Amino acid sequence: MKSFSYLALLSAIAPCALAGSGVDGVDVLIDIIQPQNSYPQTSDKLVPIAKPAKDEYEYVIIGSGPGGAPLAANLAIAGHSVLLIDAGGDYGHLRERESPALANPSSERNEVSWGFFTHHYENKELELKDRKLTWLTPDGKFYSGVNPPEGSEVLGNFYPRYGGLGGCAEHNALVALLPSKNDWDHIKNVTGDASWDNTAMRKYFKKVETVQYPLPEGTEDSHGHDGYLKMSINPAGIPAQDIKLMSVFAGAAKAFGVDNSEITAAINDAVALAQENSVDYETGLLPLNMTTGMTDAMAKMLVWDINNDDPDRDTKRAFARLPQHMDSTNYRRSTPRDYVYDIATAKTSNGTRKYKLDVALHTLATKVLFDTTGRKPKAVGVDYLFGESLYRADPRANHTEDGGEPGTVRATKEVIVAGGAFNSPQLLKLSGVGPREELESFDIPVVLDLPGVGENLQDRLETSVNAEFPTNFTRILACYYLAADGDPCWAQYVDPENKDAAKGTYASNGVVMGSFFTSSFSEDGEHDLWIGGFPALFNGFYPGYSSNAATVANKNWWSWLVLKAHTRNNAGTVKLATTNPRDTPIITFHNAYEGQTKEEADKDVGALREGMRMAVSFFENIPAIDGAASVFWPPKEVRDDEAALDDWIVEEAWGHHASCSNKIGADDDKMAVLDSKFRVRGIDRLRVVDASAFPKIPGVFPVLPIMMMAEKATEDILATRKPGGGSCKPRKHKQHN
Ligand SMILES: Cc1cc2nc3c(=O)[nH]c(=O)nc-3n(C[C@H](O)[C@H](O)[C@H](O)COP(=O)(O)OP(=O)(O)OC[C@H]3O[C@@H](n4cnc5c(N)ncnc54)[C@H](O)[C@@H]3O)c2cc1C
Ligand SMILES: *[C@@H]1O[C@H](CO)[C@@H](O)[C@H](O)[C@H]1NC(C)=O
Ligand SMILES: *[C@@H]1O[C@H](CO)[C@@H](O)[C@H](O)[C@H]1NC(C)=O
Ligand SMILES: *[C@@H]1O[C@H](CO)[C@@H](O)[C@H](O)[C@H]1NC(C)=O
Ligand SMILES: *[C@@H]1O[C@H](CO)[C@@H](O)[C@H](O)[C@H]1NC(C)=O
Ligand SMILES: *[C@@H]1O[C@H](CO)[C@@H](O)[C@H](O)[C@H]1NC(C)=O
Repeated sequence: MKSFSYLALLSAIAPCALAGSGVDGVDVLIDIIQPQNSYPQTSDKLVPIAKPAKDEYEYVIIGSGPGGAPLAANLAIAGHSVLLIDAGGDYGHLRERESPALANPSSERNEVSWGFFTHHYENKELELKDRKLTWLTPDGKFYSGVNPPEGSEVLGNFYPRYGGLGGCAEHNALVALLPSKNDWDHIKNVTGDASWDNTAMRKYFKKVETVQYPLPEGTEDSHGHDGYLKMSINPAGIPAQDIKLMSVFAGAAKAFGVDNSEITAAINDAVALAQENSVDYETGLLPLNMTTGMTDAMAKMLVWDINNDDPDRDTKRAFARLPQHMDSTNYRRSTPRDYVYDIATAKTSNGTRKYKLDVALHTLATKVLFDTTGRKPKAVGVDYLFGESLYRADPRANHTEDGGEPGTVRATKEVIVAGGAFNSPQLLKLSGVGPREELESFDIPVVLDLPGVGENLQDRLETSVNAEFPTNFTRILACYYLAADGDPCWAQYVDPENKDAAKGTYASNGVVMGSFFTSSFSEDGEHDLWIGGFPALFNGFYPGYSSNAATVANKNWWSWLVLKAHTRNNAGTVKLATTNPRDTPIITFHNAYEGQTKEEADKDVGALREGMRMAVSFFENIPAIDGAASVFWPPKEVRDDEAALDDWIVEEAWGHHASCSNKIGADDDKMAVLDSKFRVRGIDRLRVVDASAFPKIPGVFPVLPIMMMAEKATEDILATRKPGGGSCKPRKHKQHN
C-alpha cells in the first residue's frame, strides 16, 4: 500500500505518533485546540458581540445558517422586529473565510469550528474499521487512524460544522446547485401542497440569486439578477495556467465520454507556445496571455449551465462548470451572513437604523418556552445562555464547568428554530418536543410527544480516489495556505489591481467542474452521482484534515471526490446524550447495511462503486504530459476486487450534508415533524427552517435548496399574518389565554 506518502507528509508537517508499523489509516495526532495563524480580520464591518438587546421581539430565530439568516433579514425588511440568535461570533472577514480556496482551513478555525463526533454505525466493530476514526488519547489529544495510543477512547467520525454568524455557508466549498425536480415534487406529493412544485420553486432561486457568470443566450430569465447571493464561476484562466491541471480535466473528459480533442489540441499548442517563448511550464505557471486557446476550449467543453431550467437538467449526463456562492467583483465568498450584516446595519437617510433586526451573538439558545394553557402549546420565547464557546462542539469549550449568563427573550409572533440538522432536533427535545419515551428517560417534561424529532436523519455518501504525480501542480506551488507569513498567493489574491484570473489560486475553490451522471441503480433516472476534484489530498474528515489536504510541502496530489445523491437510507438519529444544552447529542447515521435492507443498501453501495470506478478511469485517461498519476487510495488490491471495494465503501464513506431530522410530512404520517408550511405539528407559533426540514436529502449539494426554503418560509410566515391568508385567524380575533 502506498501509505508512505502519509508518513512523509505527516512527519513533515504534523506532530504525530506513528504507532505500529503497518500504517494504513490516516494516522494523525494533534492537540484539541490546533495551533493556527492569528491574522486580524480583513475588515471591521462585523456584527458586534451582544446578548439580546430587548426582552421581546415579534420573531425570534435560533441559528443563523442558510436557513435562519436569510429568513431573519427578510422578515425585518417586511417591517417586523426580529431577533437572530447564534451561539458563535461574527468571523465574516477571516482570511480563510473570504478566499474560496481556503474553505477547508476555514472549517477548522478554532473561533468558528464546531467539531461534532458522529457515528456511522452503531456496530462498534464496523466503526473501528474506518481508517480515519478519531480517538481521545489519555493525554487529551485527538488521534485519527487505526493505531491509537494505548488507553485511547473512541470519539467517532469528525463532522465539521460552523458555529458562528452565517452557519456552514461560511466554510463550505461554495458549490451552489439547485436540487433535482423530484426533490421538490416529492414534498408536493407527500403533503399535497402544490406550492412545492418544482416549477413554482424556481422563483425562490431567482429571488436569492444575482448571477454573475455568462449565461447561454436566451436563458437570462431563468436566473435571478438582484438577490443577495452573488453567483459566479472560477475564472477559466486559473486552472489554465497549469498544464498538468488541464491535462487532468482532459483525462476526465475522455473517460466521461466527452469529446476532448479540442482541449487536448489546445494543451499541445500551449506547450509548443511555451517552448517557443522559453517559458518553463513544468515548474512555473504559464503566463495568462498563453492560456487563451485552453480557456476557449474549456469554455466550450463546460458550456452547460447546471442551474438552467432545461427539462433534461436532472437526467442529462453533464460535464459542467460549478456555480458558486462567490462574488466575482473580488472573488470573495458571498453568503447569507453578508445579507444579515447589510440589513442589521442599514441606516435611513437621517442616520437611524432602517430595520428592526437585532443579532445576538455568543448566545446559545437552551430552550424554547411554551404557553401550555390553551388548546395547543404555543411557543412564546426562548431561554439562552450568553457567553463564548459554551457549546461543547467548540474545541475551546470547557467540559467540566458550566458557564454562561442566563437570559430569556419573548416572541410575540413566532419562534423559528434553524440550528441545523443536529442542533434543531436537540433543542426541540430539550424543550419537551420529541419522542415521549426519550424525553421521559431524561425527566424532561413532555410538551408534545412528537416521535419524528431527531429521526429520519440522512446524509450523502462520499468517498474519494487519491493519486500522486511524479511532478507538482504549478498552480499551487507558491501557496502556503496561510500556514506561514508572507503567503504570495494571498498577496496576489487581495491586490486590487488584479482582476479575475490574475487574482490567482485563492480566487477559486479549486473545484473547476463537476461530472453529473446516473448510476445503473438510480430509481428515477435523475443524477445520483457527482465527481469533482482538486489538487489536494482529501480522503474524509478528521481533526487536522484541512492542514493535511493542502500543504506547504506537497503539491503533487489530486483527489477525485465521489458523491452519491439520493441515498435510500433514512435511518439516522439525533438523540440526547444529556439534558445539558452545552453537550452535543449522540448522532448515529446507521449507514449502508445497518439502516436498510440488504437489497436497498446494495444499490447505494453499488452506485458509489460505479462512481469510484469512473474516478479511477479519470486518472487512467490523462494524456501523457509529464508522468502518469499513481492512485494509492484506495489501494490497488481494493480497487481491483469488487467485494473489497464494496467493503471499503462501507468502512470509509462519509458525508457532510446532514439533513432531514425534523421532516416535513403528510397529515397522517406520525413521523412527520412539520407540515408543508414548516410549522411544528401540534404546536402554535413554532417553525423549523433549515436542513432538518427536508423529508429527503436534496440534490447533490444542499445549501442552495436551504436558502430557497428560507425564501419560501418567509412567504408562508408573512401570508399567515394577513387576514384570510394561511390558516391563522386575523389578528383581531386571536384568542388570549
Ligand atoms: C466542510 C463542508 C463543506 C460543505 N460544502 C458544501 C458545498 O460546497 N455546497 C453545499 O451546498 N453544501 C455544502 N455543505 C453543507 C451546507 O453548508 C450545510 O448543509 C448548510 O449550511 C446547512 O444549513 P443550516 O441552516 O441547516 O445549518 P447550519 O449551516 O449548520 O447553521 C446553523 C447555525 O445555527 C447555530 N446554532 C445551532 N444551535 C444553536 C443554538 N442552540 N443556539 C444558537 N445558535 C445555534 C450554529 O452556530 C450555526 O451558525 C458543506 C458543509 C461542510 C461542513
Ligand atoms: C408525484 O406524483 C405524481 C402523480 O401521482 C407522479 O407522477 C410523480 O412521479 C410523483 N413524483 C414524485 C417525485 O414522487
Ligand atoms: C505575453 O505578455 C508578455 C508581457 O506581459 C509579452 O512579453 C509576451 O510576448 C506575451 N506573449 C504572447 C504570446 O502574447
Ligand atoms: C428618521 O427616519 C425614520 C424613518 O425614515 C423616522 O421614523 C424617524 O422619525 C426619523 N428620525 C428623525 C430624528 O428624523
Ligand atoms: C474550566 O473552568 C474551570 C473554572 O473556571 C477552570 O478551572 C478549568 O481550568 C477550565 N478547564 C478548561 C479545560 O478550560
Ligand atoms: C515539488 O514541490 C516540492 C515543494 O515545493 C519540492 O520540494 C519538490 O522538489 C518538487 N518536485 C518536483 C518534481 O519538482
